[in-house]
Amino acid sequence: MSLAIVFISFLLYAESNAAFANTTYPLVIWHGMGDSCCNPLSMGSIKSLIEKQIPGIYVNSLMIGSNVVADTLNGFLMNANEQVDEACEKIRSDKQLQNGYNAMGFSQGGQFLRAVAQRCPNPPMRNLISFGGQHQGVYGLPRCPGDDTSVCDYVRKLLNLGAYIGWVQDKITQAEYWHDPLNEAEYKKYSVFLADINQEVSINSTYKQNLMKLKNFVMVKFLKDTMVEPKDSEWFGFYHPGQAKTTFTLQESDLYKEDKLGLKSMDSDGKLHFLSIDGDHLRFSDEWLIENIIQKFL
Ligand SMILES: *[C@@H]1O[C@H](CO)[C@@H](O)[C@H](O)[C@H]1NC(C)=O
Ligand SMILES: *[C@@H]1O[C@H](CO)[C@@H](O)[C@H](O)[C@H]1NC(C)=O
Repeated sequence: MSLAIVFISFLLYAESNAAFANTTYPLVIWHGMGDSCCNPLSMGSIKSLIEKQIPGIYVNSLMIGSNVVADTLNGFLMNANEQVDEACEKIRSDKQLQNGYNAMGFSQGGQFLRAVAQRCPNPPMRNLISFGGQHQGVYGLPRCPGDDTSVCDYVRKLLNLGAYIGWVQDKITQAEYWHDPLNEAEYKKYSVFLADINQEVSINSTYKQNLMKLKNFVMVKFLKDTMVEPKDSEWFGFYHPGQAKTTFTLQESDLYKEDKLGLKSMDSDGKLHFLSIDGDHLRFSDEWLIENIIQKFL
């Protein structure tokens, strides 16, 4: 009698575990500028919302550096390539991510996680969700987030001084996705991060192969964004060269038409998803997140 019960409980346990293993992948989160892995008001609250919606899910909210203060500062003052290297290393050495993971990037965390997908295919990223990420960079930093804007104000001064000056480009995170449409040639020549991951310097076929391994690439654009210029960058569009007024879409770009990064192929396979929210930068409700992201892509 009791043996039978033990046996049945074992079966139920095994079955629930199998079903669980089949449907739930762990999640990696990368925060935006001025934020950190573990701020209870931002990434912390998103992490707990997801843990409530998907019981048992493992969430790794990336910390770049060894503590929360360093993590916040590194979002301004650490070379983006080194940040991506560190993220790759943390993902590679996290045993719970070894069978693959989904990824959610907020603001600059969006383009940084795309770089992770392109450069570090193991373990495999499955779905990449970019919230207000700047995939064609920014030309402007209209305001600084948070209460303490001193570091960000310093960064703005340096960007005004010249984003493509060697040491600024090398040291300032935002300079590395600074995209000056009045100086496309300089951007292509001096941008150490964005121009590289966007195949502007030369075509790295590994980047294309790796990005195409994603099951889905979701780009969320905030239609009333006051932080990102131009907003079109959140859907991989940008200013036409030579001016900063009119913009082109991803589908109108050479990057897409010549399928340099695999985005055109991914689009025809139904892997690209362009979502929009009628609000300011990173403003969305729990209900929106649950319905449009958690239930569909996690
Ligand atoms: C996992 O999902 C697939 C496809 O939905 C299904 O065919 C398979 O039986 C599932 N495996 C387990 C162990 O639940
Ligand atoms: C292409 O990208 C891969 C992955 O990051 C890298 O290992 C390789 O060195 C790059 N190739 C070139 C020619 O830059």
